[in-house]
Amino acid sequence: MIIKLQTKSDANSPLIVALFEGEAPESSLLGKNTLDLVAALTKSKVFSGKKDQILNSVFDTKTKPRVILLYGLGKEADWNEKEARNFGAKIIRAAKGVKEKTVDLRIPSLAQDDLQAFAEGILLGDYNPAIYKTGEEQKKREKEALQTISLLAKDWDHHQRERISRAQALAETINDTRDLVNCGPNHLSISAFVDEIRGAAKEHSITITDLDKKKLEKLGMGGLLAVNRGSEESAHMVILEHKGAKEEPLVICGKGIVFDTGGISLKPSNSMQDMQLDMAGAAVVLGVFKLLKKLDIKRHVIGIMPITDNAVGPHSYRPSDIISTYSGKTVEIANTDAEGRMILCDALSYAVDKYKPKYLIDLATLTGACMVALGYRTAGLFGTDQGLIEKIKTAAQRTDEAVCHLPITEADEKSIKGKLADLTNLADVPYGGACRAAAFLKQFVGETKWAHLDIAGTAFTKEPKDYEVNMATGYGIRLLVDFLENL
Ligand code: BES
Ligand code: MN
Ligand code: ZN
Repeated sequence: MIIKLQTKSDANSPLIVALFEGEAPESSLLGKNTLDLVAALTKSKVFSGKKDQILNSVFDTKTKPRVILLYGLGKEADWNEKEARNFGAKIIRAAKGVKEKTVDLRIPSLAQDDLQAFAEGILLGDYNPAIYKTGEEQKKREKEALQTISLLAKDWDHHQRERISRAQALAETINDTRDLVNCGPNHLSISAFVDEIRGAAKEHSITITDLDKKKLEKLGMGGLLAVNRGSEESAHMVILEHKGAKEEPLVICGKGIVFDTGGISLKPSNSMQDMQLDMAGAAVVLGVFKLLKKLDIKRHVIGIMPITDNAVGPHSYRPSDIISTYSGKTVEIANTDAEGRMILCDALSYAVDKYKPKYLIDLATLTGACMVALGYRTAGLFGTDQGLIEKIKTAAQRTDEAVCHLPITEADEKSIKGKLADLTNLADVPYGGACRAAAFLKQFVGETKWAHLDIAGTAFTKEPKDYEVNMATGYGIRLLVDFLENL
C-alpha cells in the first residue's frame, strides 16, 4: 500500500474524517456538502471526536452517495508518537472495512514526529500475515487490501513529505521482516535464508561476507558448528558491512536459528510450535541494513548473523559434549536446547576480535525465561556499559519498543562455570534463566561496550499492539535505527 499526500478530496473515494475532540474540519479539503454534513454532526454532538468514536455509513446524498466515516482522535493534548502510531493502525482497520481500493483520509495538522508515527501505524497496521492462504480466504484478503490511502491536509511541505517517505521505508522493511520471521522452516531453510540475505545485499549494494562450514572450521567456530551438527545443511556466519562514515565500527549481531527443535534435549511439542521465530534476531539485523541504505544513515555498521537450525539427527551435538569455541573457552553442554548462546558466543568473540567495535549489540530470541519475566511487549536488556544502556533505553522510549534493564549478577556468572570445562551452557538452578544466558554471553565480549536484547517475547507476539497482529512483529528495527541515527 502507498500513502499519497493530497490537498483535495476525490469525491469518488470513500472518505474518513479523523477529528480531535471539538475540532471542526476546514472547508477547502472536503467540499461544501461534505463539510456541511460533518459540521452538522459535530455541532449537534452526534459526533464529538472522543477517542475511538466511530460514526460510519453516512451518505452524502446531495450529490452522488458516498461513504463517510468519522473517526474520533480524542483530546489533542493527549497525543504523542505512541498514540499517533496506534491511531494510524486503528484507522486503517476501519478503512479496510469499507472494502475499496482507495480511501481518502482527512487528518488534523500534526507535529512532524506524530505525522511520521501516524503513517507508520497506517502501514504497519495494514500488515496481513496470511500469505499462504488459498481459495475464498485469499480472495477475501485481496478484496480487503487497500492500494492507496490519500492523506488530506491543507498543504504538505517537504519536511512532511520526507517524514512520510521515512515511514514508508521503515514499514515496508518491517513488514518484509515479519514475513521472513513468520515463514515456515520448510520454506526458509538455512540456505534459503542465506540466499535471501545475499539477494538483499545485492539489491541494496551492501558488502557481504559469507563464511560457510569449511571456513568456520578453519576459524575454529566450534560453538556454531556444534549446533549445526544435526543439520542437513552447512551453517553460515553472514557478515554485512555499511560504511556510511569513517569511524570505529558499531556491530549488531542477531541469532539466526531457522528452526529450534531443542536438539537431542528435544522440546515438548507445545514449546516447539512457532520455533521458526528463532531467527528473528538475524532478520532484524538484515532489516536494519536495508534501512541503513534506504535512509542513507551515515554510520559505520557491521552486521553479524550466525545461521543454522538446531536439529535432531545421528550427528547432533549431545548433552555432555565438550565444545571448544572460537574464543578458546571450552563449554560443557548440559542442554542442547540452550543453543542460542552457543552460536552467539562465536559471533560475539569474532566481532570483538576482528572489528574492535565501539559498541556491540546483539538481539536474540534467547530464553523463555525472559518471556516469563517480561511478557510480549518488553524485551530484556543487559549490558556492560551504562552509557550504551541509557542510549538504548532512550531509543526504546521514542519508538515504543520497550526494554527493561535486567542485571547480570556475580551469582549469575558463577552459575555458568563448568565442572570439567570453563563454562556450562546451562546453570543447574532453574531461576533467572534470562540473566544466566546473558551472563554466559558476557564471557565472550571482554572489555567491549556490549548490550544484549532478549527478544524472545517481543519478536513473536500473542498479545499484539494496535499496529501488530499475532505472530512476528519486527520488534527491534525501529529501535536500532533510532539508536543509530541519534548516536
Ligand atoms: N529459542 C529458545 C527460546 C525461546 C522460547 C524463544 C520461547 C521464543 C519463545 C531458546 O533456544 C531456548 O530453547 N531456550 C531455552 C533455554 C533453556 C534450555 C536453558 C528455554 O528458554 O527454555
Ligand atoms: Mn533452544
Ligand atoms: Zn533457540
